[in-house]
Amino acid sequence: GRKWTDIGALTEELKDQQVLIRGRAQTIRAVGKNIAFLVVRKKGFTVQCVLTVQNDVVSRQMVKFATGLSRESHVDIEGIVSVPDTPIKGASQQVEVQVRKIYCVSKAVPNLPINIEDAARSEIEIEKALQAGEQLVRVNQDTRLNYRVLDIRTAANQGIFRIQCQVENIFRQFLLSEGFVGIHTPKLIAGSSEGGSAVFKLDYKGQAACLAQSPQLHKQIAICGDFDRVFEIGPVFRAEDSYTHRHLCEFTGLDVEMEIEEHYFEVMDVVDRLFVAMFDSLNENFKKELEAIGKQYPFEPLKYLRKTLRLTFEEGVKMLQDAGVNVDPLGDLNTEAERKLGQLVLEKYGTEFYILHRYPLAVRPFYTMPCYDDQTYSNSFDVFIRGEEIISGAQRVHVPELLTARAEACGIDVKTISTYIDSFRYGAPPHGGFGVGLERVVMLFCALNNIRKTSLFPRDPLRLAP
Ligand code: 4AD
Repeated sequence: GRKWTDIGALTEELKDQQVLIRGRAQTIRAVGKNIAFLVVRKKGFTVQCVLTVQNDVVSRQMVKFATGLSRESHVDIEGIVSVPDTPIKGASQQVEVQVRKIYCVSKAVPNLPINIEDAARSEIEIEKALQAGEQLVRVNQDTRLNYRVLDIRTAANQGIFRIQCQVENIFRQFLLSEGFVGIHTPKLIAGSSEGGSAVFKLDYKGQAACLAQSPQLHKQIAICGDFDRVFEIGPVFRAEDSYTHRHLCEFTGLDVEMEIEEHYFEVMDVVDRLFVAMFDSLNENFKKELEAIGKQYPFEPLKYLRKTLRLTFEEGVKMLQDAGVNVDPLGDLNTEAERKLGQLVLEKYGTEFYILHRYPLAVRPFYTMPCYDDQTYSNSFDVFIRGEEIISGAQRVHVPELLTARAEACGIDVKTISTYIDSFRYGAPPHGGFGVGLERVVMLFCALNNIRKTSLFPRDPLRLAP
């Protein structure tokens, strides 16, 4: 086993026991020459460590050494756990460590570009501190991202990326339990897969190529290849022009594709079961992480129903129109209309998670299956959390002639996707699927205001480093 005790595991039960901890010296404070306080942090948890000069145990030199350490230096500390009479402020753990030995494992430079304590404060705490006349620097987003190595040390960020890992994990576990197979499709491809121009172009040994905008075409080919249910977790590249709170140039796509027996509703059923299971599991098993996030970025738990609400696009348009919002019944909803509809749905149905389906065909990608009864509409859907899109999905066209016609009608150079279209000439089952943006799910589940908060090293139109 490990010889170190996790800082998060330091509780009253360990009173009077000797422990060895490793962490970072978050703050260092001297009281005269005989006493020093160190707040030591690891994985978002903090504990106060006390050095008090005592014959044979702690020398003045040790206290001097400790107070001379730079913030964020890595230290090993051996000490005895004690329980103070008064509550400890400024540390997550309610016990102290009476230091016997201290080693500096790795020194940090003395002037850090970000003070972790400041970076970890909530807006409310910052306002209070400023009103109390405290000197503090508000850490802006660019500074945080420039020094991400420091920024991700805050408790909220530690929570965010542990939640992200779980969203991915639950996605995988759930789909495996329903008979899906995990696949990986190429990220270097010949042309655009979603249509449109938002692709990163590159030179593939003399041949024009681009970074995959989605695994769309290849996950469908896998279905034609007799894998009747597949999923993929992988990078997705979009050469976005706009600098918004919810678009990245590289994000993690969670993709699903499956054979359909009769109806595209079967695909929405998977979304329903998967996400209700995911939200339940996050709420039940990741309370600590959600709490750490909420402490810095307060949010209300997501409201969702046991059986996910489904509205048709027409119904959604009607709700908006009844509320006095001007929308084109055959156009797409803009961000503002989506938000507004989210509010209306919450008021009427009490949920912040719902599916909108049967979109107008004209606003969907070329591979989307038109409705059998009315070709103005399509067998497609989007899924929303708190009024913002996290998923789009649909039944696909599996008839090669119709697929070619649809691609041409959408202005796509059919030559670049000929192997894809050919895949449907050897017998292709009806199928459908969906794509989820991982960073969006985490952002919206925790009601965060910017997707850069849920991407470890975000790539946006202005950022390629770190
Ligand atoms: O809506 P999109 O573009 O759909 C597809 O890629 C389809 N192939 C999916 C399918 O199977 N039909 O992207 C799917 C999801 C969006 O709902 C959104 O959550 C996320 O990917 N997404 C982005 N996330 C961050 N930055 C961007 N630029 C994103 N673009 C889409």
